[in-house]
Amino acid sequence: MKKFLALFLLTIIFAPFSAYAENSIKIGIIGAIDVEVETLKNDAEISRKITRAEMEFCEGKLGNIDVVIVKCGMGKVNAGICVQMLVDIFNVTHVINTGVAGSLNNALNIGDIVVAVDAVQHDYDVTPINFEKGEIPYTGLVAFKTDEKLREQAVNAAKKVAPGIQIVEGRICTGDQFISTKEQKNKIISSFGGDCCEMEGGAIAQACYLNKIPFIIIRSISDKADETETVDFKEFEAQTAKLCANITEYMIRNF
Ligand code: ADE
Repeated sequence: MKKFLALFLLTIIFAPFSAYAENSIKIGIIGAIDVEVETLKNDAEISRKITRAEMEFCEGKLGNIDVVIVKCGMGKVNAGICVQMLVDIFNVTHVINTGVAGSLNNALNIGDIVVAVDAVQHDYDVTPINFEKGEIPYTGLVAFKTDEKLREQAVNAAKKVAPGIQIVEGRICTGDQFISTKEQKNKIISSFGGDCCEMEGGAIAQACYLNKIPFIIIRSISDKADETETVDFKEFEAQTAKLCANITEYMIRNF
C-alpha cells in the first residue's frame, strides 16, 4: 500500500514537468548569409541578442513558438559550431536550415524548392583508406536523414507559401566550395546524385545527428551551379532566400 502511495505521489509531483518537457519546443533557425535570415529577424519578436564566435543569436518568438535565429556564415565549420552553440547555450529542440542552393537536378529551375530527405558532404573523402566516398569514418554513414515530421511540415508550408512552384524532396550535397563549373557539378552528381548543392546543410545534419536533434533543410534554387552561376546568383540570391525564409516562417507559425 505504501509503495502505491509513494508511486502515486511521485506521478503527481513529476507529471507537470514531463508534460512541460514534451511540449516545450525551441527551434534554432540557421541561415548562412544576411538575406537568408533578415525577414525572419524582422518578423520575430526578439527578446535577447547574444553574440558568440562572431555569430549573433537572436532569441525570441515567431507566433507562439520560441526561436533562436542566427546567421552562421558560409561553410561547414561555421555551420557545425553554430549547431553546437544552439544546443549547448540555447537548448534548442529542433533545427531548421533555410537558404539558397545551386541546382544539381536538370528539372530544377531558379526559384524551385528543395526540402531535404538527406544531406551528404560531397567534399568528404577518406577513400584511400577504404571508406566509401563521402562516408564519415566509423559511423557507416554517407548521408544524414532529416526528420520525417519536419519534412512533411516543410513541404506543406512550401505548398501554401509558393503555390505553383516546384517542390522536390531530395538530397542536399554540401561542401566548402561554391560550385560554378559543369565539371565540378557533374563530379558531385556522379558520386552522390543529389538535387542541389550548398555549403552548410551537410554539416548541420551531422551536428544534429550527433546531438540527436531533429532537423530539416529547406533550400530555394538561386543558380544552376555552372558557368552561368555568378550572374544568376547575384540576380536571384535575395529573392530566392526570402522565399525560403517565408516558407520557414509559415512552417513555424503553424507548428
Ligand atoms: N549556394 C547557392 N548556390 C551555390 C553553389 N552554386 N554552390 C555552393 N553553394 C551555393
